[in-house]
Amino acid sequence: MGIHEQETVPLSLSGGSLGLTVREIKAPRQLGSVRLLREIGKGGMGVVWLGHDDMLGRDVAVKFLLGAAATEDDPQFATFLEGARAAARLKCAGMTAVFHADVVDGAPYIVMEYVDGPTISRVVSKSGPLSVPAAIAVMSSVCGTTSELHDAGIIHRDIKPSNIMLDTDCRVFLTDFGIAISRPAGEAVAEDVGLAGTPGYMAPEAFEGACGPRTDAYSLGITFYEMLVGAAPFEGEFVDVREMHRTRDLPLGKLRERHVDEAIIEIIQRATHKDPKFRYKSARHLLEAIERAPLPRQTRMRAESELRAAALKCRAGGGGGADASSATLSGRSLYDHLSTLAAKKREDTPRPASTPEPSDTPTPDWSRPVAVDAGAPRTPEAAPVPSVRGFVCSKCGAQFSSSTASAAPCPSCGVVVVGPGEAPPPQEDKDDGPLRPFTVAMIGLVVFVILAIFVVVIMFLGPGK
Ligand SMILES: Nc1ncnc2c1ncn2[C@@H]1O[C@H](COP(=O)(O)OP(=O)(O)OP(=O)(O)O)[C@@H](O)[C@H]1O
Ligand SMILES: [Mg+2]
Repeated sequence: MGIHEQETVPLSLSGGSLGLTVREIKAPRQLGSVRLLREIGKGGMGVVWLGHDDMLGRDVAVKFLLGAAATEDDPQFATFLEGARAAARLKCAGMTAVFHADVVDGAPYIVMEYVDGPTISRVVSKSGPLSVPAAIAVMSSVCGTTSELHDAGIIHRDIKPSNIMLDTDCRVFLTDFGIAISRPAGEAVAEDVGLAGTPGYMAPEAFEGACGPRTDAYSLGITFYEMLVGAAPFEGEFVDVREMHRTRDLPLGKLRERHVDEAIIEIIQRATHKDPKFRYKSARHLLEAIERAPLPRQTRMRAESELRAAALKCRAGGGGGADASSATLSGRSLYDHLSTLAAKKREDTPRPASTPEPSDTPTPDWSRPVAVDAGAPRTPEAAPVPSVRGFVCSKCGAQFSSSTASAAPCPSCGVVVVGPGEAPPPQEDKDDGPLRPFTVAMIGLVVFVILAIFVVVIMFLGPGK
């Protein structure tokens, strides 16, 4: 297919939470090495597609920002670019990495790490509010990631359950850096950076254009509340929601109805304090408060397993991520050709000689510490293979095998049996088996008989006779 007749996909957005300009664009199906497979979801500012990078052979998520025009004088574009750059320079396990950014048909887009799993808002809407342990597991991870952002001088500005995702291993990802902003590292609130965020999660001062680690802490507090209750505390029209954030207390009664521990309620209260001065200074301070909270030990122990259970429930209800393998496209591209070449090369490359049988491998010395290269991949070949030895019990005749010792206790009678050709192992104090009392008794009997014979001989043949 020539460049002029390239297949295109229509991308459109039909509304925006902040009243942004909405438009429709046409993107080529093949964006560089990325093939657009299908739409995953839509948000307030753009649309997200599942893509496949044919060159690198991995799935990616492509977010198109339809509310902004890629021009110098569009502040939305400047914000988007700043967020993408901030995310691209940070390497952190709990956030979706940004691989690439560009503009297509006048609309900016970013190519980012694909998370195969649901968002937390989907988990909550599918399977109900999270348990306290599951919510703590999510909060601990997101607060840890946000702390790293804050340390790097980045304010996320859009922390909410729909920007937190769980992958198939139940790892938690903070995503969507579309309105993140770089500030000099520190705790000060930056004034007048412009209105940005999702109203339901914005701190009162964020509606005035302020932002800082404390505004992220506020959004984290609202997110914590929503995970435990099943709905955000303030919902409705933009102006009403803004007013509620400024003046109305959080409906904490709903947390008590769900038997949430008072220690957690206090943390949510402090994180969402109307006055930033009384709030946690940053995500790290919030994280430390969660870690210090006096909670039953079991609550913390159950955190991860409960999160898995909630995610599983969501998946069972069809709430998982995109099924990349089910998406097929017609038409071959340059990248299909390259993939075929790579596959052919794999087939042509002679395979390495097969690994020797365990019997060829020298038996490791198990009594000495084994040095492990922490950087080496833990493949089955790398692990030492224990050799299995056959034993025959000298007492009861039972046959058995053991893999870790040159001497082993017989499973039938408990006697320690030494392997063929091996020196006896050093004896431990505790268990000699039934052999020793028997031997001692035999020796005693023999000594007694010899003494008795000696006495009888003396009596009959003695000097007095
Ligand atoms: N990195 C990703 N990997 C996989 N799916 C993603 C990724 N990022 C977003 N998604 C999916 O795309 C959907 C839409 O995301 P998007 O960020 O546009 O919307 P949103 O978070 O609901 O709203 P907003 O635009 O206000 O952030 C998400 O709900 C999620 O299902
Ligand atoms: Mg989002």
